[in-house]
Amino acid sequence: MAPHAEEPLPDTGVDLIQHDGKEYGDWRDQFHKEGCAIVKGVITPERAEYYKRKQIEWLQSFNLGFDPNDESTWTADHLPVSFKGGMYFSYASTHEKFVWEARTEPKVIDAFSKLWGTEELIVSFDGMNITLPRQKDLSWSPWPHTDQSPHRKGMQCVQGLLNYQPNGENDGGLILMKGSSKLFDEFFRETREQDNHVDKPPEEEDFRDLFIFKESDVKWFQDHGCKLEKINLEPGDLVLWDSRTMHYACFPQGERIRHVQYVCMTPRKFAKQEDLDLKAELFNTWQGTTHWPHCNIRKQGPPLRDGKVDPLDRSEPLEKPEITDRLLQLAAVKAY
Ligand SMILES: [Fe+2]
Repeated sequence: MAPHAEEPLPDTGVDLIQHDGKEYGDWRDQFHKEGCAIVKGVITPERAEYYKRKQIEWLQSFNLGFDPNDESTWTADHLPVSFKGGMYFSYASTHEKFVWEARTEPKVIDAFSKLWGTEELIVSFDGMNITLPRQKDLSWSPWPHTDQSPHRKGMQCVQGLLNYQPNGENDGGLILMKGSSKLFDEFFRETREQDNHVDKPPEEEDFRDLFIFKESDVKWFQDHGCKLEKINLEPGDLVLWDSRTMHYACFPQGERIRHVQYVCMTPRKFAKQEDLDLKAELFNTWQGTTHWPHCNIRKQGPPLRDGKVDPLDRSEPLEKPEITDRLLQLAAVKAY
């Protein structure tokens, strides 16, 4: 950072981390170079096993007959309602005890603290992903996208995914367009239309921070030197990416269920008071948010099954988290 430079503010088009080329000798070097990085082993394989078990138990808790050992039950009518066949944001699931335990794993917080250079963070009330391979009644299509609106310029958010299950060739996993974050502003200098995808957000929700790319856009990034790469992780790995990075999930084809927790932290100082207030309200009513911790805080609404509110919707988690000061600070309920 230039001497006496003012600290960057969100949504002014300036990168919120001003990297001056300094080398850290850890994953941060890769992050600043490529816009994404893997932080190895932030939790132990045993902890990853624990979270996998809790996710499966959560699916079973709806008593819809889901059996992880019986593939004939791997259909929508045996499962709570998800987005893209495995992302769970509803049913107060984003506040389950085990979800908060994952978010507050010391090395998860530590990774975001190192990245942002502060301990004073707030966290997204983000979903988990439990995707069953070969789910028969699912029509699924790739959806290369970014979770940052083209109208937000510069590096504004860093997303994370805590992985619980090994990812081999046939397994599910995260696909990233490496290097695309650095070309985001250039790409959107021209007016771009979203792909006419089934998951495309409505036009009026401009700031929903989702942009789905067309095939020709994917090619544009490749022609500009980016590489589409599936990131194969081990249990306990955390992958972080600049929210301008094009990404999507690889649907599992092998034997293993995909088990993931999305987690995202940014400095509390980036949030406006109205967003902090809304965030605290969402926490107090056990509701979820998007990937964004400090803005784009919006009520998500109840899960819909066949267009109607799922009668199995929940107004509180099955197991409430242990409320600590640290948790309340991360939830924006308590100031630092
Ligand atoms: Fe995404």
